[in-house]
Parts: sequence; C-alpha cells; structure tokens
Amino acid sequence: MEDNLIRELGEDIIRSKKTVALTGAGISAESGIPTFRGSQGLWSKYDPAEYADIDAFMRNPAKVWVMIKELIDILVAAKPNAAHLALAELEGMGRLDYVITQNVDNLHQRAGSRSVIEYHGTNERLYCLECKTKFARTELCFDSIPPLCSCGGVIRPDVVFFGELIPEEARISAEREAASCQLLLVLGTSAVVYPAGNIPLIAKAAQAKVIEINLESTPLTEHVSDMLIKCPAAKIMPLIVDRVKELSA
Ligand code: OAD
Repeated sequence: MEDNLIRELGEDIIRSKKTVALTGAGISAESGIPTFRGSQGLWSKYDPAEYADIDAFMRNPAKVWVMIKELIDILVAAKPNAAHLALAELEGMGRLDYVITQNVDNLHQRAGSRSVIEYHGTNERLYCLECKTKFARTELCFDSIPPLCSCGGVIRPDVVFFGELIPEEARISAEREAASCQLLLVLGTSAVVYPAGNIPLIAKAAQAKVIEINLESTPLTEHVSDMLIKCPAAKIMPLIVDRVKELSA
C-alpha cells in the first residue's frame, strides 16, 4: 500500500513543473520538538489564550516568556531530521520550488533549504517593542526574562501571535506560490489555523494536486487532499527522494 503511494508520489513530483511544500509542527516532531495539538501538544500544557495571544503577551510578557524560553531551549538543541533533509535534497535536485512553513524553528534552513517562506515568523530573530531594534537569538541571553533592550523595552520574538497579522511579504509570497504550483505537499500540519489553512485551498482551486503526509487525517483529507500518506514524515520522505532519484536516472 505504502509502496504504491511512494511510487505514485515520486511520479507526481517528476511530472510537476512546480512543487511546493507546506509544513507544520509534525515535520519537526521527530526532531524532538512538541507539536501544538494532541495529548502531548504544547497547548495541553500552556493555554493558548494565555500564552499565544498578543494581548496576553502585552499584559504579562514575563509569564509568556516562560513558555518562549522553554521553546527556545528545545529549538536550540534540536537538529533537522530526515524529512527536513529530504525536502532540502528535493530542492537541490530542482524538484521542489518552495517550502512554506508555519514552524518558527529554522530547521528547514539548517537542513539546507534555501527557498523558505516563514509564514509565522521565526524564533531566530527578536525585536524590542519600544525602539524596534532587531536582535539575532544568538546575541541575547535569556537568563532573566523577559529579556530587556538597552532602552528598557521588552524584547519579543519575531513570531506571529494569535491576534496578529501574517507578515505581508510572507503572506503574499505563500499565496503566489500556492496559486501557481501543480503539486502541493502538506506535511505535518493539522491545517486548522488560518490563514495558513487557506494555502491548500488556494492550491486546489488552481488545480494543483494536494498530497498530505500526516499521522492522521485532517479537515483537508476528505475534500481537499487527493491523497493522504499516513506515515511519519521522517520515515516516508527519504523513500520518496529515493524514488524520485530512480525515476530521474
Ligand atoms: P499541530 O500541532 O496543530 O498539528 C501537527 C500535525 O502534525 C498533526 O496533524 C499531527 O497528526 C501531525 N504529525 C505529528 N507527528 C508527525 C510526524 N512525525 N509526521 C507527520 N505528521 C505528524 O501543528 P500545526 O498544524 O503546525 O501557530 O499548527 C499550526 C499553528 O498552530 C502553529 O504554527 C502555531 C499553532 O498555534 C501560531 O502559534 C500562530
């Protein structure tokens, strides 16, 4: 069953003139980074209304920084897994045009992907709420939280909180790539957060084939996806790359 799906997806990738991947927390799960939803998810420990909402952050940055610091510690220790590496390899082979990621962990770039749209921003950059000075994560020390700028302002990560808009450039690029691809791979996302959840709909409306790689079905599975490969991304993606190589030989 899986062999057939791998064969079919390999052929789809070879045939497609433009392929885009949309990724979510599930692609980084095998790097040891928790996903958001589900019994072990981050939102079972931290209520998103209190920790992921911009109003909550502005009300009490020190409280939200407890979660951010915990996440940054996990992200710093994490390494790209076989799924990140496979996507980077596909890009290197000229078989993948863009990765649109909802993740803020920088693992696609560390795996070697170059065309990455960071739809929800990144934890690698931060900025001061007062004077807007930008910082690389590596410049800062998080021993005392919230970290403060030399101007006295609170520093925040350059990520999208609930209640904030998607950075315009990322939103426009993602919509453009989704609307012009022939194949969209949707890896490790529950697809329940919008507007990211619109990306597969945009691709589908533009006649792209939509293929999900996920451990479970999602709201896309019945009506939007053409196929669901129910398998851990880090297990299946290297097999798909091997198939693409065989077909390209
Ligand atoms: P979720 O936690 O909502 O969903 C993770 C998905 O990954 C689920 O559908 C899992 O079944 C799947 N999954 C888990 N492990 C996997 C594996 N090894 N291989 C393949 N799939 C796997 O995470 P996202 O969809 O990324 O936004 O969440 C979207 C947004 O919600 C996040 O960007 C974040 C969050 O609130 C903001 O904070 C703005």
